[in-house]
Amino acid sequence: MLSKEDNELLTRVGPGSPMGEMLRRFWMPALLEEELPGPDCDPVRLRLLGEDLVAFRDTNGKIGILDAYCPHRLVHLYFGRNEECGLRCVYHGWKFDVDGNCVDQPSEPPETNFAHKVRLTAYPSAVRGGVIWIYMGPKDRMPALPDFEWSYLPQRRRTATKRVQQCNWAQAVEGGIDSSHISYLHGATEAQHKRNSAEKNIVQLNKFNAADRHPVFDVQSVPHGLLIGARRNAGENDFYWRITQCLTPFYTMIPPVVPDADTSRAPYSGHAWVPIDDENTWTWSFSANPHADYTDEEIAWHGGANGMWGPIDENYFPKQNRENDYLLDRKLQRESSFTGIRGIPNQDAAVQESMGPRMDRSREHLGQSDSAVIAWRRMVLKMARDLEKGIEPAAASRGEWYNVRSCATVLPRDTDWQQGAAWLLAGGQIKSAAE
Ligand code: FES
Ligand SMILES: [Fe+2]
Repeated sequence: MLSKEDNELLTRVGPGSPMGEMLRRFWMPALLEEELPGPDCDPVRLRLLGEDLVAFRDTNGKIGILDAYCPHRLVHLYFGRNEECGLRCVYHGWKFDVDGNCVDQPSEPPETNFAHKVRLTAYPSAVRGGVIWIYMGPKDRMPALPDFEWSYLPQRRRTATKRVQQCNWAQAVEGGIDSSHISYLHGATEAQHKRNSAEKNIVQLNKFNAADRHPVFDVQSVPHGLLIGARRNAGENDFYWRITQCLTPFYTMIPPVVPDADTSRAPYSGHAWVPIDDENTWTWSFSANPHADYTDEEIAWHGGANGMWGPIDENYFPKQNRENDYLLDRKLQRESSFTGIRGIPNQDAAVQESMGPRMDRSREHLGQSDSAVIAWRRMVLKMARDLEKGIEPAAASRGEWYNVRSCATVLPRDTDWQQGAAWLLAGGQIKSAAE
C-alpha cells in the first residue's frame, strides 16, 4: 500500500507535478508515423501529460507539435488549415510554423500587428522506428533518443501500435510487470485445462511453463530500471528463467514464449504506457524480429487494428471497452475462459480500468507476488523526489541503456541468473541493424 500522499505523487502527471516533471525529462512515443503521412496532411489532436497539443507536418514535411490553443482567443488548432508551411487558425486566420512562431496575423492592421510577440509552445520531435517521439522537458536538457533495438530494425522486422486505456499510467505499468496474474486473468478454467491436456492441445508452447505453475520471482535493480526474473523447475539440476525488462520510466520488454531452451533468435515484444493525463494512458505495443522479416500476416497480427492488440477503431480506441463491459461473455467464463473476456489486452484493460481512473493505493493489501510492483513504485517515486532536489534521472540521458532484450533460458540451478542470461539480455548490434 502507499500513503495517500505517495499515491498523489505517483499518479499526478500534469505540468508542475513532481512526477510529471520527471517524465518530461524522457523522450516519449507520441504518435505513429502513419498519423502524419505527408506534407500538409490533416492535423492531429494529441494530449500528453495533461497538455492539449496539435501535431502536423508542414509543406516541407517538417513535423510540428504545438500547444493546441491559438493564443488569440484559444480556438483549438485541430480545426486549422495546414497550408504553405504553417497551421492557420480558422477563426481569424493567425498562422503558426512548426516552431510555434506566429508568421501571419491577417486580422490585425499592419501598423498594430504584433505577430512577433506571439508564440506557441512547440515541442521537439523525432521519427524513429515508425514512431514520432516527443520531448516535453527543458530545451537545454534535451537528451538523445532511447536506443531500443526495435526502433532501428528495418520496417519488415518491427511493428508498433497503440490503444487508449481509460486509467492512470501507474495502474497500467503495474499490470505490465505483475507476472503473477498471467495464469489467472489470461488463463483458462480448470475444466478447460483438463480438456486441453486430454486432447494434448496444451496452449502454452513451452513445457516448463506448463509443468510448473508456481514460479518464484526475483526482482533486481539495474541502472535502466528493473530485471524481473521468474524461475521454474526444469528437471533436477536446472531452472527455466523468464526475464522481463522494466525500463524506466514506463517501458517493459516481455520474454518470448518458444519451445526452445533459449530465445536468442526469437522475436520479442514490449510496451510503453504513456500518460495522456491523470486518468488516461496510451498503451503502446512494440514487436521486434531481429533475425528475419515478419510475414504480412504477422505484421497484421502484431500491428493491425484487428490484430492481437485490438480490435480498435480509427482513433485507436478499443471496441471492447468499459462502456460495453468489454463484451464479457458469462457462458464463456463458466465453460472455458477465466474471465469470459476475449483478448489478452481487453482482459488487462478490464481489470485495470475497473480499479477506477486513478486507484487509491492506501486501500490495497499487497503480497509476496507484488514484489515487482513495489520495486517499480519505489524506483519512480525516488526519481520524482530526486528531481525535486535537483538530481536528474540518469537513464533519460543514457539512450544506450535501452539497447537490451528480454529473454528466457535454462540455467544450472547454482548459476547466477543475471550472469547466466547476460548474453541473451544484451541488445542487438544497433549499427549493423540500422544499415
Ligand atoms: S482565435 Fe485563432 S485567430 Fe482568432
Ligand atoms: Fe496481462
